[in-house]
Amino acid sequence: MRIWLDGGLRDVESARVSVLDHGLTVGDGVFETVKAAHGEPFALTRHLDRLTRSARGLGLPDPDHDEVRRACAAVLTANPMALGRLRITYTGGHGPLGSDRGRHGPTLVVALGETTRRPDTTAVVTVPWTRNERGVLAGVKSTSYAENVVALARAHRLGASEALFGNTVGQLCEGTGSNVFVVLDGEIHTPPVASGCLPGITRALVVEWTGAHETDLPLDVLDRADEVFLTSTLRDVQAVHRIDDRELPGTQGPVTAKAMRVFDERAGQDLDP
Ligand SMILES: Cc1ncc(COP(=O)(O)O)c(C=O)c1O
Repeated sequence: MRIWLDGGLRDVESARVSVLDHGLTVGDGVFETVKAAHGEPFALTRHLDRLTRSARGLGLPDPDHDEVRRACAAVLTANPMALGRLRITYTGGHGPLGSDRGRHGPTLVVALGETTRRPDTTAVVTVPWTRNERGVLAGVKSTSYAENVVALARAHRLGASEALFGNTVGQLCEGTGSNVFVVLDGEIHTPPVASGCLPGITRALVVEWTGAHETDLPLDVLDRADEVFLTSTLRDVQAVHRIDDRELPGTQGPVTAKAMRVFDERAGQDLDP
């Protein structure tokens, strides 16, 4: 495996960042996960734009999109595979041990891992912890993801593939690495970005392509929604067949099935929508 670090391709076994990198010591960094099918990244422009918005959210210098594009292309060419998770990581770089940032400039890593297409349906659990919709990291795809690590481990212990968070005022928010949609009376709804969720790229495309509404939803909407689905870069649109102890009728409701179909069609027509 060849990855990109510090301006060039390196062997993953020998590539090294400083043990004092602020991304490692305090989680001072941002990232993107991009789907790559047969070496072609999907929605790369939207991912790069969000990387910049995340970097600005942390006060990091704007990433150089030309360099990141070059890095992605080089890594994809060096590691051919059917379906890849292209991971762009951009951190505060070598720095002091405390929260002050150093002056060495950011670290950019682009890596790639092989993955397989997700199942069409999955189980989720709700967790008692909250997303902070007023926090400095709200809407930022930061590398400070330990809350998601803990919540996802709990989901796996309970036989689910995703954990859903409410926010501090009891509204439905998002999953550890996905956005959530519910179907009520035939209409699709998803929490607004003001709920504290990440502005997911798949979420935005699904809103655009299906006319889904952005609606404040109480967490207990999950007890009565007719259908529920998740969206993310690697899940695309994925139906939910169980939430905690509630089995949803049918494995894949008609509205979700249509959203999955529309997403596949539109995504197939344009690799950089
Ligand atoms: C916390 C969180 N919410 C939502 C998403 C979904 O966003 P996207 O569709 O851009 O992958 C992600 C990213 O994977 C995420 O990390």
